Amino acid sequence: MITFLGVYKYYDSVPVLQSVSFKIEKGELIFITGPSGAGKTTLLKLIFGSEKPDEGEIKVGDFELSRIRQSEIPHLRRIVTFVFQDFKLRHDLTVYDNVALPLIVMGQKERDIKQKVYDTLKNVSLRHKADMLVRTLSGGEQQRVAIARAVITNPRVILADEPTGNLDPDTSKDVINLFKSVNALGCTVVIATHNPELFKNTGFRVLYLKDGKIIQ
Ligand SMILES: Nc1ncnc2c1ncn2[C@@H]1O[C@H](COP(=O)(O)OP(=O)(O)OP(=O)(O)O)[C@@H](O)[C@H]1O
Ligand SMILES: [Mg+2]
Repeated sequence: MITFLGVYKYYDSVPVLQSVSFKIEKGELIFITGPSGAGKTTLLKLIFGSEKPDEGEIKVGDFELSRIRQSEIPHLRRIVTFVFQDFKLRHDLTVYDNVALPLIVMGQKERDIKQKVYDTLKNVSLRHKADMLVRTLSGGEQQRVAIARAVITNPRVILADEPTGNLDPDTSKDVINLFKSVNALGCTVVIATHNPELFKNTGFRVLYLKDGKIIQ
């Protein structure tokens, strides 16, 4: 589903990713880990097409990201969604409206949207908060809204950046279980985290980045 081949990324001529090569199979759940500044977020942004590689090749599905045109990016975003570290939710809107947004942008019918939003909110145990403003929710609840918004379009790949960043261990477990259930439905899931507790003894594959290189 995702292939990196000899990828280099520089910021202000400083290498941030160096000769990065790996493959992520369709339907895999994989963790990207490593210390702060290792390049985890940069790697996710490259998969999302919001940054471009300076050297090497990146394939995501049928898209060749080193050569992708700006006009193709919306097509890429149909299959790849991003759960941002700071969620990027609309705090002045309700939970319902936040989760509905991607479907509205896609021009789906109101009745279909309603059905999908309520189903998805049920899956993240937030059906009862649909009409609350996002800014009144706890951190863990906002995280789940962000996940609901990312999965509602049935993407083939979900990228999550530190999805358990500020959550307590129990809530973190719930969030990882959510990703597992999305993954069980066939979605490829890539989770960047510096917290080894999330993947210890899980059996999931882990890519370890240090100073922009994959060392394990
Ligand atoms: N837009 C940018 N401009 C300049 N430098 C950047 C930019 N984005 C990232 N960097 C640098 O690239 C390096 C890797 O950053 P990145 O955010 O990918 O690390 P990370 O592994 O996600 O770290 P963290 O665990 O702290 O989130 C850092 O040294 C950072 O300062
Ligand atoms: Mg990061």
